[in-house]
Amino acid sequence: MKIAVFGASGYTGRLAVAEARRRGIDVVLVGRGAERLRAAASDAGFQDAETRVADAEDHDALVAAFRDVDAVVNCAGPFARWGEGVVRAAIAAGSHHVDISGEQPYIRHVFDTFGAEAERAGVAVLPGITDDGLPSDLITALTAARVGGEAEEIAIAVDIASGGASRGTIRSMGAMRDTLIDGGLGYEDGELSPRAAARRKDIVLPGGSAPTAVVRFPLPAVVTVPRHVSTRHVEGLASQEVYELFTRLSPELAEQMPEGPTAAQRQAMRWAFAVEVLGAGGRSARGEVRGSDAYGTTAVIAVEAARRLAADGAPAGVLAPAQAFDAAGFLDFLGDHGVGWSVSDVRQ
Ligand SMILES: NC(=O)c1ccc[n+]([C@@H]2O[C@H](COP(=O)([O-])OP(=O)(O)OC[C@H]3O[C@@H](n4cnc5c(N)ncnc54)[C@H](OP(=O)(O)O)[C@@H]3O)[C@@H](O)[C@H]2O)c1
Repeated sequence: MKIAVFGASGYTGRLAVAEARRRGIDVVLVGRGAERLRAAASDAGFQDAETRVADAEDHDALVAAFRDVDAVVNCAGPFARWGEGVVRAAIAAGSHHVDISGEQPYIRHVFDTFGAEAERAGVAVLPGITDDGLPSDLITALTAARVGGEAEEIAIAVDIASGGASRGTIRSMGAMRDTLIDGGLGYEDGELSPRAAARRKDIVLPGGSAPTAVVRFPLPAVVTVPRHVSTRHVEGLASQEVYELFTRLSPELAEQMPEGPTAAQRQAMRWAFAVEVLGAGGRSARGEVRGSDAYGTTAVIAVEAARRLAADGAPAGVLAPAQAFDAAGFLDFLGDHGVGWSVSDVRQ
């Protein structure tokens, strides 16, 4: 098995390379700068790793770089700017593709654009395979299954205790600031829409004892969950504090910041999702998933997703995490990396 990490010289790309090495997976480092790629290989203790140069806008070079790899892990953001060409090249090369985008508009665009092409090529394309997109999608699948698989209403709320953000995150979130301010998409009666109003004004966040006030927030799971759960309504939510943390970010701020959190800051990070599902039959269930180190966990998740696609295959097309992977199996695998989850009935 061989995987390519595109954007391997970046902050998260280097963590993904180190994770692939730790797992004993043959990895090719791909990116636009030969020297930065070699430095990234050395940083990961992988001096003899293969590097291949390709810019995100050079289709032929990308296809050549991916020609013999089973799966591509794309770590080069902002994805709204650089992501589409990498998806197209991975499909052309016949490689599965996962990316670590947290950009809800881009994730929707990949679903809307590449389904037929990926199906024809027989490959799986999974956008948003991060500590955010994958656990929130999988825990929602498990929570919806608890009420019988048919939902009237799904609320997904994120909580983050941050130890800082990488320059790449600040750049990417800053570039979609208007979407963050507006709250992004909701899902209502078969459609994703920026006008779908949130029904919840508060929710008990994981570890909380009382409801916290929440506002609409552009979570990737709002796009992915309706791909596999039959539901009339999905909303993404965050506390006012998290909303303010993200809406303060801008591309200009990115240039003044260090490349990313230190290892100690990463260990101090905490993230969590609370999911509440009202079933079509009137039953309710609640799911929670929590973890730490957003960047290290994202590297683990993206590499494991690529490994599973390469080893086990998946249906061809653009897929939500729960369409490609066994939800409980993947979340349990993450238990060794500090991720915990639970699903329980909610008594009315
Ligand atoms: N939970 C989440 O949602 C989550 C978690 C982690 C990361 N992310 C996302 O992942 C992305 C990367 O973050 P990061 O902090 O790792 O960023 P970063 O350190 O800035 O790395 C970006 C990478 O992209 C490469 N790149 C940029 N433009 C390119 C081009 N035209 N052609 C080829 N390569 C290009 C850079 O190459 P050079 O080294 O040559 O500049 C670098 O390797 C961001 O969008 C971030 O939001 C999301």
